[in-house]
Amino acid sequence: MGDNTRLVFFVNGRKVVEENADPEWTLLYYLRNKLGLCGTKLGCAEGGCGACTVMVSKIDRISRQISHLAVNACLAPVCSVHGQAVTTVEGIGSSRGRLSAVQERLAKSHGSQCGFCTPGIVMSMYALLRATPTPDPHQLEVAFQGNLCRCTGYRPILEGFRTFLEGHECARLATPPSDGACAKGDQCCRRLGNATTNDVTAKLVQPHHFAPYDPSQEPIFPPELQLDDALDVHSVTFKGARVTWHRPTRLEELLTLKQQHPDARIVVGNTEVGVEVKFKNCHYPVLIQPSLVPELTQVEVLAGQGVRFGAAATLSQVEVALKRQQAERPEAETRVFKAITDMLHWFAGKQIRNVAALGGNIMTGSPISDLNPIFLAAGCELEVASASKGRRRVRMDGSFFTGYRKNVVAPDEILLSVLVPFTRANQHFVAFKQAKRRDDDIAIVNAAFNLTLDQNKKVESLQVAFGGMAPTTILAAKTSAALQGREWNDQTLEAALDLLVSEIPLHPGAPGGMIQFRRSLTLSFFYKFYLTVQQTLGSVPEEALSATRQFQSLPIKSAQYYEVVPEDQQLHDLVGRNVTHLSGIKQATGEAVYCDDIPKVAGELYLALVLSTKAHANLRKVDPSAALALEGVHAFFSAQDLSPEVNKHGAIIHDEEIFVSKTVTSQGQVIGAVVAEDQLIAQRAAKLVKVEYEELTPVIITIDDAIRENSFFEQFKPRLTKNDFGAALQKAEHQLSGEVHMGGQDHFYLETHCTFALPKEEELEIYCSTQNPAEIQKLVAHMVGVPLNRVTCRVKRIGGGFGGKESRGVLVALPVALAAHKLRRPVRCMLDRDEDMVATGGRNPFRGRYQVGFDSQGRIHACKMTMFNNAGCSVDLSCSVMDRAVFHMENAYNIPNIETEGFVCKTNLPSNTAFRGFGGPQAMFLAENYVEDVATFLGKDPAEVRRLNLYQDGDVTHYNQQLDNCTLQRCWDECEQKSDYANRRKQVNKFNRENRWKKRGLSMLPTKFGIAFTTKFLNQSGALVHIYHDGSVLISHGGTEMGQGLHTKMVQVASRALGVPEVDVYVSETSTDKVPNTSPTAASAGSDLNGMAIIDACEVLLKRLEPYRAANPKGKWKEWVSAAYFNRVSLSATGFHATPDIGFDWKTKTGKAFNYFTYGAACAEVEVDCLTGDHQVIQTDIVMDLGESINPALDIGQIEGAFVQGYGMFTLEEVVYSPQGTLYSRGPGMYKVPGFADVPAEFNVSLLRGAPNPRAVYSSKAVGEPPLFLAASVFFAIKNAVASARADSGLKGAFRLDSPATAAKIRMACQDRFTQKFPEPEPGTFTPWNVTP
Ligand SMILES: Cc1cc2nc3c(=O)[nH]c(=O)nc-3n(C[C@H](O)[C@H](O)[C@H](O)COP(=O)(O)OP(=O)(O)OC[C@H]3O[C@@H](n4cnc5c(N)ncnc54)[C@H](O)[C@@H]3O)c2cc1C
Ligand code: FES
Ligand code: FES
Repeated sequence: MGDNTRLVFFVNGRKVVEENADPEWTLLYYLRNKLGLCGTKLGCAEGGCGACTVMVSKIDRISRQISHLAVNACLAPVCSVHGQAVTTVEGIGSSRGRLSAVQERLAKSHGSQCGFCTPGIVMSMYALLRATPTPDPHQLEVAFQGNLCRCTGYRPILEGFRTFLEGHECARLATPPSDGACAKGDQCCRRLGNATTNDVTAKLVQPHHFAPYDPSQEPIFPPELQLDDALDVHSVTFKGARVTWHRPTRLEELLTLKQQHPDARIVVGNTEVGVEVKFKNCHYPVLIQPSLVPELTQVEVLAGQGVRFGAAATLSQVEVALKRQQAERPEAETRVFKAITDMLHWFAGKQIRNVAALGGNIMTGSPISDLNPIFLAAGCELEVASASKGRRRVRMDGSFFTGYRKNVVAPDEILLSVLVPFTRANQHFVAFKQAKRRDDDIAIVNAAFNLTLDQNKKVESLQVAFGGMAPTTILAAKTSAALQGREWNDQTLEAALDLLVSEIPLHPGAPGGMIQFRRSLTLSFFYKFYLTVQQTLGSVPEEALSATRQFQSLPIKSAQYYEVVPEDQQLHDLVGRNVTHLSGIKQATGEAVYCDDIPKVAGELYLALVLSTKAHANLRKVDPSAALALEGVHAFFSAQDLSPEVNKHGAIIHDEEIFVSKTVTSQGQVIGAVVAEDQLIAQRAAKLVKVEYEELTPVIITIDDAIRENSFFEQFKPRLTKNDFGAALQKAEHQLSGEVHMGGQDHFYLETHCTFALPKEEELEIYCSTQNPAEIQKLVAHMVGVPLNRVTCRVKRIGGGFGGKESRGVLVALPVALAAHKLRRPVRCMLDRDEDMVATGGRNPFRGRYQVGFDSQGRIHACKMTMFNNAGCSVDLSCSVMDRAVFHMENAYNIPNIETEGFVCKTNLPSNTAFRGFGGPQAMFLAENYVEDVATFLGKDPAEVRRLNLYQDGDVTHYNQQLDNCTLQRCWDECEQKSDYANRRKQVNKFNRENRWKKRGLSMLPTKFGIAFTTKFLNQSGALVHIYHDGSVLISHGGTEMGQGLHTKMVQVASRALGVPEVDVYVSETSTDKVPNTSPTAASAGSDLNGMAIIDACEVLLKRLEPYRAANPKGKWKEWVSAAYFNRVSLSATGFHATPDIGFDWKTKTGKAFNYFTYGAACAEVEVDCLTGDHQVIQTDIVMDLGESINPALDIGQIEGAFVQGYGMFTLEEVVYSPQGTLYSRGPGMYKVPGFADVPAEFNVSLLRGAPNPRAVYSSKAVGEPPLFLAASVFFAIKNAVASARADSGLKGAFRLDSPATAAKIRMACQDRFTQKFPEPEPGTFTPWNVTP
């Protein structure tokens, strides 16, 4: 084959030559499947999570400059890196050789928990350092805009990487002073005397132990690419089976190609095309990459006009060029430039901006494009060209976009360039964007305003552009025309607002929903623009100024307080020490193996699922013939392959089918599975399976629907009472009632569900990303009709679980195991992110109705709570979730009279399931709502009411459990003192008096979380401990490692249990053939249960070794072990633990529900933008009682991670369904989990000291779930801020705010004269785009 059809690039310094490059392969696919480089992970395939980040380096042949860019390998077509150098996480360091400083610092800073995000985060940092060896804080912040982590809460990552900042590096290298201050000496926060940081017991991280960072040691750009331009100057063509890729190097060539293939896509970043192909089923047979055509990449400054960008200029290049202009030119000339660079900060993440082009944004014409409103308002001039008609100029005005994603550029034309104009002194240009999340999110509504005033401050011209308000970006031309010639004053403002209301309508059922919010935003933005202009003219009242201030990132501060181990603790005893996650280094180097990283084996096949696309329907026909006809497809499995009895499964009751046989009861149910040679064929074939449905009614989606249709799982209605609620309510001085809703949550573990099954003789070996290997083993054995001893389920580690992999793993595991069993071939499947989100369910949404009776002090005497949860189409674990909810409906308050019950709603949604907290957070949220209502009613600070009602030691719950060693009050008091609550309350009130459009809120609340499985038999665990004759110890236990550091803690426990130095203790994996009949790793009980079982086994072994120790008291461990071995003593033992004295009997309402409780308190302060609903968390202080922590660093990591996950649940994460049960939020694009920028600016965590827990391993306490609820402090701080805004509008008293408190809900709750212009339409007069499940 010729040179121009051969793909050549470098990976980690090695040259890769691919003779048969397929343009459909992404770089990620190539790295993982062709090169076996599995360090780079697949988290979403849509550029939204950063798990796939690699560094791409290339040389500019003109400037000779080498650029190093972080890039999403999941979107980059492999063909696009021809002639470039790719660096993956494997290429920068390894645990077996030299570690990169980035890898080392991340791991040692406790910045890797499950580790699935870690390689991507490492590579974002690495690319930043290669481009900028001493970055500033802003560059650090920007580098991670495109990376997500679901485990850590980001703080440790940021802190680890801050050591690379200018200044930190040299300070770090100096020897640390003895007083515990860091090497910054007098500049260290400890010496600066900050009250909150003075009593930090010790540092979690020792930066002076880090190896120095030396940029000169990094691998060089491949000399071959540097010296020889052959790969750049020639045009190339790569032909695949279905797609051809052209990379021309001259404009004529490009135009000819476009003429020959008018339907061809011009691909630069592939950030639109890639998503269309992967998720929207688009097929583009011809792709053309114009990145080396000079006319499309040039950046020119045109005197008196502006800056002209070639259409293929990337957004990062645009940013650099426009920032340079802003630095060099008078401010008045560069106002459009500033609007663009400001906007680019909020445009996607760095990885996307590094590759995505200006032209791609314009030509895609998305109605929520961030740049098009600016270009439209600025009237940018475009140059387009075609082979037949040559070049022409087009102005971006109201006629440019002709329909949804359509514009006036003809199919055979290409966009050549964009001219962004200079501004003049009397011109004002401002742009706004409101998204769900500030960083890396698409806009809900955006706007750009371009105003020129004459000398008399009269409107000479005005362009107002909006995105997100119509199928295209639009200009409000009528409003502009009507304002022409008017003076820029309050009357003009009012006229403009009324004009906009009528000019920018939005149908109540318009796509995207949030109608009132979006319409209000148009006015909010105009008002902000009005004030911004007024401000430059010098006439804005002081209190209104807050409207113009935009949120900026605040400098990050944090402190961690915990108890250090006593000085006399033996060195080998690791309990209480900050041992870093034992897989941390492997995770940071990409060596850690997750299920889908297991190397391919001979004969392996791939499986793809066929999922239902209707929520309630009979299957008329399932026709796999087209799929089976595809080359490379081996089989199709469906309900016909299993008997009805065998086809059934379920976590508690068997009410689900492996393959739906007759009726689908939700979207995302598994109808069949296609097995093929590889993933691409299997997924393509699965789409060819024809399913005909007969739709059924009713389609029940929401809790309201379920209540209306009386659709409940009748057998599960937990009910508890304490004393006499009715009588107490009647007697109470005051009564109130209320209702509130809490939405669901997707787990969004970074690693989606994955299974790999290997048939072996009569056995099946299953590798599965599950929290519950024993359950997978049981269900697989049942399905294939063998005893449990023929099926082994193994779990090395999972990339996050959070409850989502407790029971739902079977959806993938069972079809994969069936295929492997039937075909006698190894079979693998990893769900795509959208499949995972559509099929596997999430946290149960909850609705609570409450009635409370209380006195004038705020003491609550009576409470009735009726709860409904949305279980979805099957029971799964939703009944146990409801059990836990009724146990937690009083949160941390001693209410003497209680009546509570729960209803589990049966709906046509995917089955909801376990999620960190398991119904506890939902119920506690409901509890805090009635506490808030009581406080509002009495005009008291909610913190006062909370303090008054707190449980005390010895109090008894509504399920008759006495609280022993209750440290709630201590947590509360310490949190109150550490957060300086009283003073900050005054400051917040002062701020709110002085500001009309920004409000602050402060909230402090407690938590009490019951530790134990509420199903009694699950409170058991096993362990197997081997001592090999070299003295090394291998531990197996029943728990799975999903990032929480369970294996690390278990090694720490063993180090104490064995009580001897120099023991090498290792945990390899969790496997059902090592420890049988295990419980899921859930209920926060992993360490408690398995730690006790390990101690049990260690004690057996120590007893066996005792004679050899006694015989040789001065000997060493290895000598005793060896002596025992030669004396034929068994050095292997099992351990077992069953939590004593536990189990609540629902019939008699007796017995102990929980082993003990984990307590905590948190205080949060937020600032809210009342005009947009945006908010920022200013500070969070947490105090938690974790007993005597086994590992404070890991425990603090769990607290921070849980808090940030809870923060997402309470503010950002919205599971969006259509009224027909279609999940819209099926990827990181639509579903926003917290990002790096969402961490509280100041984040302080304390572990309560002197509180040993007698009921768990080495006096510790469980930590996984309890801290999550503390994020409700942010929710109620927001509510507190909103209340202040409402008060300014004359609205007093309690109001309902459902969770999550999204920007839309916050804005609409801050009612004012703008929102009042958009009354809610009559329900029933329209079909809404989405419903709240
Ligand atoms: C994770 C993620 C986040 C994103 N965030 C944002 C965001 O915050 N704001 C926002 O506005 N957008 C966002 N986008 C959308 C996208 O990144 C932008 O629209 C980007 O500018 C597209 O550029 P590209 O080079 O990647 O386009 P490509 O996918 O390469 O091409 C897009 C389309 O434009 C056409 N095209 C490209 N160049 C030309 C040309 N010269 N002549 C004719 N046609 C051409 C192509 O044929 C194709 O149809 C996001 C996308 C992703 C995946
Ligand atoms: S996998 Fe590429 S960004 Fe998520
Ligand atoms: S450690 Fe980041 S996703 Fe798990």
